[in-house]
Amino acid sequence: MRKKVIAGNWKMNKTPSETAAFITELSDKVKQTKDIVICAVPFVCIPAALKASKRTKIKIAAQNMHYEDKGAFTGEVSAKMLVDLGVQYVIIGHSERRQYYNETDATVNRKVLKAIKAGLKPIICVGESLEQRETGVTADFVRYQVGYALNGVSSEDMKNIVIAYEPIWAIGTGKTATNEQANEVCRTIRQALNEKYGRKVANATYIQYGGSVNVKNAAELFSMSDIDGGLVGGASLKSDDFCKIVNYKG
Ligand code: PGA
Repeated sequence: MRKKVIAGNWKMNKTPSETAAFITELSDKVKQTKDIVICAVPFVCIPAALKASKRTKIKIAAQNMHYEDKGAFTGEVSAKMLVDLGVQYVIIGHSERRQYYNETDATVNRKVLKAIKAGLKPIICVGESLEQRETGVTADFVRYQVGYALNGVSSEDMKNIVIAYEPIWAIGTGKTATNEQANEVCRTIRQALNEKYGRKVANATYIQYGGSVNVKNAAELFSMSDIDGGLVGGASLKSDDFCKIVNYKG
């Protein structure tokens, strides 16, 4: 049985001082969980988040990284820098990065390979636009994105990979995919992993759903056969809401 991986994606929210207070409060509320709880915080909040999460259930993620080790890339952060701080996870290929910062399937793949090499666990985001869903190409498109992102990733490395299925039309819109829609695409992703790596790896890989996950819909979404938790944006910013989502079993 796979655990759930429940990750909060803070996006560009909270200051370093707010971070410490938030993580301290949250860690107390999620003490009992057997699942994996992650907060993906802005770069500058990482030191405070790591300090406040020490000896708690909460793991810390970055929201992006560069695919090169170092060099003339003003404003960027490398995998090595994150590892040096003690970060364990990194979100790669979020649709906002694809939309606003020219992230492509090729750069996503380079970042995934670099993250693994550095010892980070990538949370790889994939998902279709509304137009793609309406045209009926969702399954093909998501399979393509997953295949591209994992190009060169070995079976052995797959144990450090989390995939987040996030339909773009459901992100920040309040329009959640139905349980069935979300599960169907997560199952398609698992089938693609099965074809590439075999059943054992496919069954062991965590596949999250993301897109307007909230206190009301989390339990049902997380109970679906192929959904192993969620990547939560807006609802991860309030500790009461996020802890209810983490403790979705009630
Ligand atoms: P949302 O964001 O929960 O606010 O829709 C999810 C995400 O972008 O990861």
